Amino acid sequence: LRMVIMGPPGAGKGTQSPRIKDTFCICHLATGDMLRAAVRAGTQIGKEAKKVMDAGGLVSDDIMVNLIKENLETNPECKRGFILDGFPRTVVQAEKLDDMLHARRQKLDKVVELQIDDALLVARITGRLIHPSSGRTYHSVFSPPKKTMVDDVTGEPLVQRSDDNAEALKTRLAAYHKQTVPVANYYKRQGLWRGVNADQPQEAVWANLAAIFAERK
Ligand code: AP5
Ligand code: ZN
Repeated sequence: LRMVIMGPPGAGKGTQSPRIKDTFCICHLATGDMLRAAVRAGTQIGKEAKKVMDAGGLVSDDIMVNLIKENLETNPECKRGFILDGFPRTVVQAEKLDDMLHARRQKLDKVVELQIDDALLVARITGRLIHPSSGRTYHSVFSPPKKTMVDDVTGEPLVQRSDDNAEALKTRLAAYHKQTVPVANYYKRQGLWRGVNADQPQEAVWANLAAIFAERK
């Protein structure tokens, strides 16, 4: 399976993707997680990305395309397929991805957009807690960890993302509508796009995704 999962900030991409990854034994490339790891490691890319991310803007297409290219080429887990979460976010990125896959004689099987009203996203974003090293995601109300503020698996502390505040969210949503909605249209023209209602309990969203995977095409 080679797929893209898209949707506005807080729609549930990072929540649903690990389950897709485990079901199909494919790699999960989450560009936001990759950039946050670069910030923690203090790399050049991390330094460039930090300010842009905290403000809710988009990191340059060049950096993002290279990051994905490198991973698709070198990550052995990606051999069986991949789920791209947070990429492509601009039409330029989508075109570059098509070129990359074309050169490998591959193509995307599915593009799923998690659809939800902007108004519902503030509560999801401001209550989110993450386990930085794994990217595991919780919510203080909707999906709390077993023990307050610690990861269920490792027992390590959970943190809030530095871009998870109401102000940065406004900029992130604006970027989504301006730059990423055209990407959805790009895939609609290719006949790859499927929409899923993301304003449902996690299990119901998963059931809708599973139905899409079961479609022949
Ligand atoms: P990124 O990390 O991709 O952030 P995002 O797109 O804003 O998406 P989120 O991670 O906020 O949302 P999500 O859909 O994963 O939600 P989640 O499942 O966690 O990117 C961050 C930044 O990096 C960007 O702003 C940009 O600067 C840069 N960047 C990344 N990729 C880039 C690219 N390609 N080009 C340029 N720049 C790039 O869920 C949210 C919360 O809701 C959680 O607490 C969860 O528990 C809860 N929740 C999930 N599902 C449900 C449900 N069904 N019901 C109730 N609560 C739920
Ligand atoms: Zn995410």
